[in-house]
This record gives sequence, structure tokens and C-alpha cells, in this order.
Amino acid sequence: MSGRTLLVTGGMGFIGSNFVRYWLERRPQDRVINLDALTYAGNTDNAAGLPDSANYHFVRGDITDQQQLKQLFTQELIHTVVNFAAESHVDRSIGDPGIFVRTNVLGTQCLLDQARVHGVMRFVHISTDEVYGTLGQEGKFTESTPLAPNSPYSASKAGSDLVARAYYETFGLPVIITRCSNNYGPYQYPEKLIPAVITRALQDEPVPVYGNGLNVRDWLHVEDHCSAIEAVIERGVPGEVYNIGGGNEQTNLQMVRRILAELGKPETVIQFVADRPGHDLRYAIDARKIERELGWQPSYQLAEGIRRTVEWYVSHRAWWNKSLVTQPQLGRPATGTASGAPNMPHNTSAVVDVQHAPATGQRQQPGSAHTASAPAMATADDILTRPAVSNRPIMMNGGDTP
Ligand SMILES: NC(=O)c1ccc[n+]([C@@H]2O[C@H](COP(=O)([O-])OP(=O)(O)OC[C@H]3O[C@@H](n4cnc5c(N)ncnc54)[C@H](O)[C@@H]3O)[C@@H](O)[C@H]2O)c1
Repeated sequence: MSGRTLLVTGGMGFIGSNFVRYWLERRPQDRVINLDALTYAGNTDNAAGLPDSANYHFVRGDITDQQQLKQLFTQELIHTVVNFAAESHVDRSIGDPGIFVRTNVLGTQCLLDQARVHGVMRFVHISTDEVYGTLGQEGKFTESTPLAPNSPYSASKAGSDLVARAYYETFGLPVIITRCSNNYGPYQYPEKLIPAVITRALQDEPVPVYGNGLNVRDWLHVEDHCSAIEAVIERGVPGEVYNIGGGNEQTNLQMVRRILAELGKPETVIQFVADRPGHDLRYAIDARKIERELGWQPSYQLAEGIRRTVEWYVSHRAWWNKSLVTQPQLGRPATGTASGAPNMPHNTSAVVDVQHAPATGQRQQPGSAHTASAPAMATADDILTRPAVSNRPIMMNGGDTP
């Protein structure tokens, strides 16, 4: 029996590339078309070991390009769309919100349109817990928590969720939305918290941490995210939203310390930097719906997952080193920045912007004292202008926003 054709967008990014590999290993009878614009975050090395073949095909393209989408959907009989493609980094969204609205909202709408016209059987829209905003010290996000995004990134994701929902309600397109907590694992672009800490510590560079480091994120190994998406594709109900999370709440500082301990590096490398504007205090996911209704369970323990992830970055230095030094791949320019330096793959202007942003609207951090034996609060500029760390990833918060 021939299998299904899946259109996976953003399949050269962190989660998308893990998902393509996960899916083809388990369902070799299916065919995956990987559509990715190869922005600064897309890396063809992430698909290493996946040559073009009968069941895997890479197409370079932009989800906002309606003509290209139309051609693709006309040529291919697409059964399921899994939409990972997005601008995903909160700090970049503070520097340049426009590209986030364009890709995340408009791009999703363009895909939904083609999916509708061509009658796809499943449209799985990959969203984030950040659409719910922030929590206090207690409680968890459920699927009925009102959307209250605080960053341009999370607002653009919330916008895309609402458009996706409308396509279900208005056109009957079988849309399912997933909202996952912060992911970690192999192939994550080194501007995000976990790979940034690992790669900086491995180079004996300072590890900047926003504010007092007490912001809480709920961590999930990327493979567990992939198995949750698998459950949603196979057994999810159209029109529904499923939260996905691992129940692994950690402050950013706890996570940084855990990684440094894994690497045998001293905590003195930690440097606190002025906080991100609008920085959400705490995310925590109630994932009981997907567990109960779709029988999904995460398989990774946090300690084991982090240990394996650290090992992966230690043994894949060439992969991340290339990300640190190469210019973005040809094609669409990297996300622009407020400083007008759009072509640096790891431009530091987002953090510099944070430093210079007005303090108004800044979310209060819990407690005021620094809790690590770190030096007095440095500015990101202090750290970033040291010669050894120029052009390095710098964002020290978790997850897609991280
Ligand atoms: N990383 C996390 O912790 C996390 C958690 C929850 C949800 N998510 C969501 O999962 C998805 C994937 O996240 P990620 O961390 O893998 O992101 P990523 O930044 O690593 O990858 C994004 C990919 O999308 C591609 N892309 C960007 N704009 C595009 C466009 N216009 N057309 C086609 N391709 C485009 C990029 O080239 C890249 O390969 C995102 O939608 C994100 O919001 C991420």
C-alpha cells in the first residue's frame, strides 16, 4: 500500500528537521516534502543523512510565496501539512517585528489557503505555549487559557493560531493546533538558551543570563515533541488544540547550572545582563488532554535528555561552529534588525536593543538579588564587545523564545 505525502514546512530548522527524521524512520512508506526558505535558522546540514529519494524531497521556498505554494500543491497530492516554518526567536522579534507577522501570520494563511483549495486531510499547525502569555508562581496553561501574548513573536504565533482556527470554523479545513513548551535537543540553532550555554561554555566564554535568571520554562526533549505531533497526526481531532509539555519546570539559572555541571565548567562564567522587555516570568503546560485523549507520554527524563544533548553538541562541534561563523545561506535575507545589520547570522543587535529599550512595560522579576555567585550585573554590550565573543550567539533564555 502506498503511503501518505506530508508537506513539512520549516523542515531545515531545529524541530522540523528532527521531525522529518523521526517520521521517515518510523514510516518509510510515507513521502515527506520539506519546504523551507533557508533563512539564517534553516540549515541543510540539519537534514544530513536524508538525500533526495523516493520518499524525501527538499524544496527551497517561502510559505508567503503564493505562486510557489500553488504550484507545489498542484503537483503533489498532499495528504497532511505540518507547519513548523516560522521566525522563532523572541529577541529578534523585538528588533524587527515585521518579518514575524509576515512569515508567521501571512505565511500560515497562504498555506491554509492552498490546503483548503487542494483538500488536504490534516493541517497540523505547530504553535507554542507562549501564546498564553505569562504565569505567576502557580498554575498551568490549559487549552482554554485565554491567549495573551506579550512579545511580537508570541503575538504573531497567536495570530496564526487564530487564522488557522478560522479556517476550521469557516471552511471546515481539518486543522489541529499544538502548543508546546520549550524544546531542547540536537540541531537547535545556537542562539537559543541550551545550545548557547553549551557552545559558549565549551569556548570558555561568558554565559549571559537575563535579569536574575529566575524566569521559569517547562522543558521537553525535541523527540518527545515529535512523538506528540505523531499522535496528533494519527489520532488528533480536527478543530482541537493540544498542549504539549514535559512537566520539567526549571528556572533559567537552574538550567544553566545543570549544563555547566555536565560540562565540568565553573559557575563563574555566568554573567547577568539587563532583562528582556516584556519578559514572561513563567510558563508551565498542563498536558493532560493529549495524554488522556491521544495516549501520548514523554519518554525523556530531563537529566538524561540534557546529558545526551550536551554530548551531542560536544561531538558535533563542526556543525555549530559553522553556524557561528558562516553568513546566512543565499536566498531570503536573514531577519533584519533594528540596527540595520541584517546579514549577520548571529547579530547581537537584539540584545543591544534590549539594553537600550525603555524600562517601562518591563515585567517584574521575582526577588531582586542575584542568586549565583556571579559578578555584578554586566550589560550585554560589555560581554559582547569582548573580542573573543564577537559574533557569538547570545540569547540566554529558554526555548523558541528562549
Ligand atoms: N523551539 C521551541 O522550543 C519551540 C517550542 C514550541 C513551538 N515552537 C514552534 O515550532 C516551530 C519550529 O521551531 P524551531 O525552534 O524549529 O524554529 P527554527 O527557527 O529552528 O526553524 C524555523 C525554520 O523555518 C524556516 N522558515 C522561516 N521562515 C520561512 C518561510 N517564510 N518559509 C519557509 N520556511 C521558513 C527556517 O529556514 C527554519 O528552517 C515554530 O513554529 C515555533 O514557533 C518552537
